[in-house]
Amino acid sequence: MRMLIAVLMLSLLSPLVMAADLDRMSPNVRDKASMQRGAQIFTNNCMGCHSAEYQRYKMVADDLGIPVDLYEENLIFTGARIGELMKIAMPKDDAEQWFGVAPPDLTLVARVRGSDWLYSFFRGFYADNTRPLGVNNTVYSNVGMPHVLADMGGLCAEAPRVGSGEAVICDDWAIEGSMDQQEFDRAMYDLSNFLVYLGEPALLDRKRIGAYVLIFLGVFFIFAFMLNREYWKDIH
Ligand code: HEC
Repeated sequence: MRMLIAVLMLSLLSPLVMAADLDRMSPNVRDKASMQRGAQIFTNNCMGCHSAEYQRYKMVADDLGIPVDLYEENLIFTGARIGELMKIAMPKDDAEQWFGVAPPDLTLVARVRGSDWLYSFFRGFYADNTRPLGVNNTVYSNVGMPHVLADMGGLCAEAPRVGSGEAVICDDWAIEGSMDQQEFDRAMYDLSNFLVYLGEPALLDRKRIGAYVLIFLGVFFIFAFMLNREYWKDIH
């Protein structure tokens, strides 16, 4: 019995322990400008390998307030039309041969991994010559994905201090990026924010409708209360 309790306690604690080496980010799916920047990073740098095939371009354009023609011109490279699903051209079998694992579809990744994990993962790459791609990651050790954002954020020469909450998490760079740490963090916030939206596009609607429902319940309560008083008036 005592053993059981210990195991239970440990399993309750383990998410906390695991979360200790992640940096926090609070997603804000009302911040359309942030999600637009995230969508841009995603299309330009990720859709060569990753699909988001449970989502349509048109829905993203509408939800993020991007005019359809602008979206088609700047954010679709596969020749797909705006109404189509966000698929990619890379065949899964080839990808598996190149990377050892096929790059997974990312439509729902924020719901599987959580936004803190994503935000930390994107900032956790560092140079490691023992790995086939020359990089490793503090959050996902021995990751099979190259550090595709090195030109933006640089590549740290040693494991960056992800999860420390410090503003500067790398002191020694193997490759310098075009952005400083703060700028790159903000860009990775936008990217994570976009992925949160992608995994749950109804979040915006749900929050808006939720407010109406609460207002309705409030008004309804007043009438229910008055009616209740009316019914019981003569009984006491
Ligand atoms: C050159 C191909 C390639 C590109 C470009 C690429 N990735 Fe990946 N990605 C991979 C591969 C391969 C994996 C699987 C790695 C593994 O499981 O070891 C992966 C894994 C991931 C994962 C982990 C998924 C999970 O839950 O295990 C995330 C998140 C991710 N990629 C996000 C991105 C984002 C965001 C971008 C754009 C900034 C991007 N990737 C660009 C190849 C790529």
